[in-house]
Amino acid sequence: MIAEKEFKKVTTNTLQKMKAAGEKISMITAYDFSFAKLFDAAGIDIILVGDSASNVMAGHATTLPITLDQMIYHAQSVVRARERCLVVVDLPFGSYQSNSDIALASAIRIMKESGAHTVKLEGGEETIESVKKIVSAGIPVMGHLGLTPQSINKFGTYVVRATEDTEAEKLKKDALILQQAGCFAIVLEKIPATLAKEVSDSLHIPTIGIGAGGNCDGQVLVMHDMLGINTEFKPRFLRRYLNLDEQITGAIRQYVSDIKSRDFPNENEQY
Ligand code: KIV
Repeated sequence: MIAEKEFKKVTTNTLQKMKAAGEKISMITAYDFSFAKLFDAAGIDIILVGDSASNVMAGHATTLPITLDQMIYHAQSVVRARERCLVVVDLPFGSYQSNSDIALASAIRIMKESGAHTVKLEGGEETIESVKKIVSAGIPVMGHLGLTPQSINKFGTYVVRATEDTEAEKLKKDALILQQAGCFAIVLEKIPATLAKEVSDSLHIPTIGIGAGGNCDGQVLVMHDMLGINTEFKPRFLRRYLNLDEQITGAIRQYVSDIKSRDFPNENEQY
């Protein structure tokens, strides 16, 4: 029984096999126990404890303020809910850029204190020493290229990346270098679909796209966007699967009204 359950757990090897077999990989963000439990039970392959927690959980304008301690707190909550999926945790801004020793120390803290399975970091060639050091310590690393939100102050805007040849060429090179350095997968964010296809075809590790078209090996969305909790964010690539903002607002309005009108609680809802 235990062996059967173990067999079904998603590992980095499972993802390689899925790519080889042409089976698409599903990934979603989560930051807490309750949602992670629902997503895992619904069959998601990967939960990303994204540094987008900085935006959707803490209300910051960018991903930059979230700390390593805060990421570990979110990751611990998600890992407690996990039965089957792979849990990937973002290394937050400032926890890996200074040098590869600091990057390794941050990755080790995430693995040791949260029980997550892998880490993700943003950037190409400039991160290679860190990627290699983390991978040599036995920690699987997911790369992230294209629109890398931790560099928003360099980009100045969240528009589509790598539409020009120079940036597209660098991205293709970076993807190969990350693969060579030992990354088990790469997120491609907001780049032209043709470029994402070219990169995906050139790699033996899977690519996970967000705003990168249908030819990536998998797809990821931020849970608040796809569930319609965050309705202000309306990029073209986003498909909304629910309108939770309407449903939650309606439910809360009804609750307030029921309390005010003394309808709640009724005789059956008391001791
Ligand atoms: O932090 C995050 O949610 C991410 C995804 C957008 C890929 O990195």
